[in-house]
Parts: sequence; structure tokens; C-alpha cells
Amino acid sequence: MRTVAVVGTGLIGTSVALALTGRGITVHLEDADPDTARTAASLGAGTTEPADGPVDLAIIAVPPALVGKVLADCQRRDLARWYTDVASVKAGPRAEITALGCDAASYIGSHPMAGRERSGPLAAGADLFEGRPWVLTPTADTSTEALNAVLEVVALCGAMPIVMDAAAHDRAVALVSHAPQLLSSLVAARLEHADETAVRLSGQGVRDVTRIAASSPGMWVDILSANAAVVADVLEDLAADLGDTVTALRSLQAADEGERRAGAAGIEAVLRRGNHGQARIPGKHGAPPTRYETVAVVLGDQPGELGRLFGEVGAAGVNIEDVVIEHSTAQQVGFVQLAVAPAAVKPLTAALRGHGWSVRE
Ligand SMILES: NC(=O)c1ccc[n+]([C@@H]2O[C@H](COP(=O)([O-])OP(=O)(O)OC[C@H]3O[C@@H](n4cnc5c(N)ncnc54)[C@H](O)[C@@H]3O)[C@@H](O)[C@H]2O)c1
Repeated sequence: MRTVAVVGTGLIGTSVALALTGRGITVHLEDADPDTARTAASLGAGTTEPADGPVDLAIIAVPPALVGKVLADCQRRDLARWYTDVASVKAGPRAEITALGCDAASYIGSHPMAGRERSGPLAAGADLFEGRPWVLTPTADTSTEALNAVLEVVALCGAMPIVMDAAAHDRAVALVSHAPQLLSSLVAARLEHADETAVRLSGQGVRDVTRIAASSPGMWVDILSANAAVVADVLEDLAADLGDTVTALRSLQAADEGERRAGAAGIEAVLRRGNHGQARIPGKHGAPPTRYETVAVVLGDQPGELGRLFGEVGAAGVNIEDVVIEHSTAQQVGFVQLAVAPAAVKPLTAALRGHGWSVRE
């Protein structure tokens, strides 16, 4: 591949363009807003000059609702030999592409599973896709050449290709991304008018569950609108589970002992199902999740403390598998939870205590 056109030079389009120009590909930039394309060019993402003839691949990086229309226009202009888009949902754009009578052989849908909360070219980065999954959704009509062209782009961006059916992709992202976003927002929304004293008690659990509730509503309305029916199905199943959980909780207060026991069993079942689902989320480097133990260290809130702690863990010959920092709402201290291999817990605790750290087991 030598030449690419990026149509829509926002966050994703400019990030792909930066990655490809960095790998020696000539990238032609287009956007409905010429200033946006010029900004992308000034960042080194390519040129706003049109190509002399058809480029090898056109990457359509516009909002999902516009993918069909823009693809039809690009094919009419004979912009490229092959085409892809990067929209976060796949079935809707695919249906529109079919309805508009676009050439299906030269097109393959795709979705890089990477992004940021900010949009526009200024938020872009050449390394945005490094090590991230990039879903490809070929159909029986897709030509091998179109598939190979996009596989090459995925490799040049440092991402990992995953081939999926468009509808299966949309169900998957509803389950692992779109529904969790709404649930996080719903839990955080309960805090909006909560008593100040209650909010001040917020610990790590509520912080973990509500972290993504800080996302931009505008961006999410676009994403959810494009996958609304599938997300609604996931939430309907969740609503049924929620109804059962409320019934089980009410039963815990019942006068009848049998009913109380049934309520406790219902709650335990929910928590166990949660354990099983959570354990299926891939661990480091996509490997099956590994059981790590936690060593919690009290850390003063001053410059250099974290670096000193990490240095001493390294000097003890222990690899930190993961790290979580929990902040005290009342004092100028934090708790650093270091996830380490079970065998490392005792020697690490002893080594850190030997250097004066306060370690909780
Ligand atoms: N933001 C993310 O985290 C993320 C992640 C993966 C995929 N995506 C997908 O990538 C695509 C682009 O998203 P983004 O975050 O880069 O958005 P963005 O708002 O940063 O960029 C979109 C760009 O498309 C341009 N545009 C709109 N209509 C156009 C048209 N008709 N012709 C040419 N350009 C046009 C806009 O001017 C804008 O510059 C979307 O389909 C989105 O679903 C986004």
C-alpha cells in the first residue's frame, strides 16, 4: 500500500493518518470542514491536496449515520480502489450502504476499539491504536483485496485484527461498552442530589463504577442512537435481573424464615454470577485472568513518593502486575494497592516494612 485517503479528519481519522504517514504512506486528507483537514495536515497527518488518481484505500472516519452517504459519494468520485469505515457500530451503516446500492466488493466495515473522550484532530495521536483490537466485518461480497488492504492498515497502526459479523459486533459492544456506560451514568446520577455527607463517604467501589460517567453526553448520544435497539435489549435483561434482586432483598425482611432463606439465596446467586462474569474479562496481554494478591501500602501525598515505592518494589525483585490508588477523603494520604504474584506477598511485605513503609495485609 502506498496511498490512502482519509475522509473525516477528526480524532480517529487524523490518528490513522498520523500512524500511516509515520510509516511512509502518502495520505490525502478530506473533511466537510476544510479548516479541520488543514489542522490535521499541519499536525503532519498528510496533505490536503487531492490525489492524482484513485488511492489504494479510502478510510471513512465520519459519524456512523453519515457512513453510507459518504461511501456512496467516494465511490461515485472513484476516490479509491478499496474502502473501509471506522464507525463504532456496524449493522446500521451496512444496511444503509446496501440500500444506497454501493459497491460491496470494494468495501469492508471496520472498527478500531480505541478512542478518547475528546474529538477533533487536536486530540489525535499516532499511537492511539497500538496494541488495541480492530474489528473487521467482511461479508460474502467483500473482495480478498479489500480485506487485505485493511489488514495492512491495521498492522501499520500496531493494532490486532479481529474478524466478526456486523450484528455480532454490535451485540458485543452493547454488552461490553454501551450498556456499562449507561449503568455507570445511572449510578452516578443517583449522587446528583444526594446528601453532601453521603457523597463524602465515597470509596473506591463507587469511584470504580462511576469512572466512565464523566464521558461526553454528546458523543454518547451519537453512539447509543446508532445501536439503540441492541442496547435496549441488554438493558431490558438487566432490568429483569434488577427486579429479581429487589424481590430477593425485600424477602430478606420477611417474617417467614423460608422466604428469608430464598431471598439470601437469590442475592448470593447474583453475586456469584457476577464473580463468574468478571473472571471472564481477559487479563494482562489478553491472557486468561490470573489471580494476583494485593499488597496495600500507605503513601504520603507528596512528590516522589510513588517513584520511591515503585523503586523499592523493583529492588525487591517483584513485578507489579497492576496498581490501584485509593485516595483518603479525610487525610493527606493514599493507599496504593499493588497486585503481585501470591508468592511475592510475604517477601515484599517484609522488604517494604524494612524500609519503613506502612503495609496493610
Ligand atoms: N471517538 C472514539 O472514541 C471512537 C472510537 C472508535 C471509532 N469511532 C468512530 O470514528 C468515527 C469518527 O469519530 P471521531 O471520534 O473521529 O469524531 P470527530 O467528531 O472527531 O470527527 C468526525 C469528523 O468527520 C467530519 N465530517 C462529518 N461529516 C462529513 C462528511 N460528510 N464528509 C467529510 N467529513 C465529514 C467532521 O467535520 C469531523 O471532523 C465515528 O464513526 C465514530 O463512531 C470513534
